[in-house]
Amino acid sequence: MKPNTVGPNTANKVAIIGTGIVGASVAFACLMRGVASEYLLYDLDESLAWGHTLDLEDSAFISSAELRAIQRTNAQECGQADIIVIAAGYRQGPGETRDMLLTRNENILKDVIHCISPIKSSAIVIMATNPVNILTDLAQRLTGLPRSQVFGSGTYLDTIRLRTAIKKALQGEVEESSIQAYVLGDHGDKQVAIWSSATIAGTTLTSFEELEHMITREKIAHATATKIYEIIEHKGASSYGIAAVVTELILAITMNKRTVIPLTVYSERYDACLSLPSVLGVRGIERIFYPAMNPKEQALLEDYVMCNRVICAKYRI
Ligand code: LAC
Repeated sequence: MKPNTVGPNTANKVAIIGTGIVGASVAFACLMRGVASEYLLYDLDESLAWGHTLDLEDSAFISSAELRAIQRTNAQECGQADIIVIAAGYRQGPGETRDMLLTRNENILKDVIHCISPIKSSAIVIMATNPVNILTDLAQRLTGLPRSQVFGSGTYLDTIRLRTAIKKALQGEVEESSIQAYVLGDHGDKQVAIWSSATIAGTTLTSFEELEHMITREKIAHATATKIYEIIEHKGASSYGIAAVVTELILAITMNKRTVIPLTVYSERYDACLSLPSVLGVRGIERIFYPAMNPKEQALLEDYVMCNRVICAKYRI
């Protein structure tokens, strides 16, 4: 008898483009979690993609038999996958911001989309390369797919970092997923932690003794925004957090979970790609939410959107 671990839509082909530390970790996390039936790996460095394919193959025995096919492939085949994860590009070096990667990664993204086109019309494209908001905007234009099918990992990871820090401030009394707090806007230095509408079971976080002082909240938000610099200082690059995040996104799609996740989406209200809580299901982004913000949070988010629009205008095609 087949094990009852496969969801209704897990018979999916996931392509991972770029098998650097992020792409390879995404593949490993997806395999361990059993989120799809088939994985296609592609990298310009064919030898690297082959090495990861062989190594991942050795790890796949942990997953259910029908959720572990893995192979190196070419760009065109990636364009025919059900879910396409783009993790190709340069990563932040010491002292670099994510925005500093734009010129280099913009060219890589253009090449990737050119090589994988024509893309299957029902494919969902997940952008993980930084700066993710601006590159998602570019990917939406270049792929020609509906915007709902092309989105970025956005501030999901920052939100997890914030919730983990809040959990620590509360001495571990409440687990992360029960904390309704979001980081929105930029997956970068201009990100905004939304404290004013953050709650646990309807109780505002600002009313908790451990979080009532603004200085404490500011310290938590600052540590969240700068955690990446600490990771880079000690191990050169982040990989596990983003891998877990992308795995959850694939699961939300394949299982049609309709989870609310802060992701890089195009917002008509802001006329920009920025990270906002979005419903993610089998067809991609189904709805966007606009949480209540206080005037300071709103102003910070709008400041970011203004900067983002100026940069994106240069990349309009
Ligand atoms: C990070 C990378 C993915 O924040 O930007 O870990």
